[in-house]
Amino acid sequence: MTATLIDGTAIAKEIRSEVAEGVAEMKTRHGVVPGLAVVLVGDDPASAVYVRNKERAAGEIEMLAEVTKLPADTTQDELLRVLKKLNAADRIHGIIVQLPLPAHIDEPTVIEAIDQRKDVDGLHPANIGRLVAGRPRFVPATPAGIQQLLLRSGHDPEGKHVVVCGRSNIVGKPVSNLLMQRASGSNATVTVCHTRTRDMAGITRQADILIAAIGQPQFVKADMVKDGVVVVDVGINRIDAPERKRGYRLVGDVDFGPVSEKAAAITPVPGGVGPMTIAMLLSSTLKAARLAIHPELIGG
Ligand code: GUN
Repeated sequence: MTATLIDGTAIAKEIRSEVAEGVAEMKTRHGVVPGLAVVLVGDDPASAVYVRNKERAAGEIEMLAEVTKLPADTTQDELLRVLKKLNAADRIHGIIVQLPLPAHIDEPTVIEAIDQRKDVDGLHPANIGRLVAGRPRFVPATPAGIQQLLLRSGHDPEGKHVVVCGRSNIVGKPVSNLLMQRASGSNATVTVCHTRTRDMAGITRQADILIAAIGQPQFVKADMVKDGVVVVDVGINRIDAPERKRGYRLVGDVDFGPVSEKAAAITPVPGGVGPMTIAMLLSSTLKAARLAIHPELIGG
């Protein structure tokens, strides 16, 4: 079998244009421009690229995007003060702090300082709790993007065995919770593998849908998947490529060539999950703006 490519660039474009319609409607009906604040601490080059892409994508759909860049030696208290101001700002409906943060800053403390009604990353314990309880408000962008990629490419997870490799707070944990929900677009049987899993290949070979979110370049090999599997590759790893002008190339967590010969469908890197993350973040920001106008929708 040779895999069909799941085109994240095209699906993300479709979602961004749906969000753009919502943004335009919000302006005409309520005179409100949805506003996203992005906070970047330090000078990690990959993070700088992600933040630039988020800012550009928001601008393209006429959403307000406000980027706050802070130096790497910013103290935790200084960062918390910035968040307090953004929490109180009426023009800002969604706030994200780009991760990872410098080592001297405690990530959970920072995430918990974001107003849960503006937590468009869905990483605040209140929003994670709502997802686990089956009453989601903001779902983390990458898991939400993975679900949309599957649905819009005709691979509804319902009844399927989904194997998730990775247990991070940003991807592995929320995507496994999302896809096991009793809800349309979910209803999967989910197994989570991680660094301490014994015989990982024995488990991944049982996957109808395999989600690789490990952070190791080309970790998933062809002998770890069954024929006809649907593969979602969340990894974005830079590996040396001296022949390229920039000196590196991007590869996923999946050994793309050999795996794509066995898979029914697979996401490429780049052009798979990456663009979806941004599209879903914009969608959550529109939702946050709607919630600010209709607080009764928030519930509990
Ligand atoms: N860094 C990598 N992915 C993400 C994400 O989804 N949200 C944030 N805030 N930082 C990230």
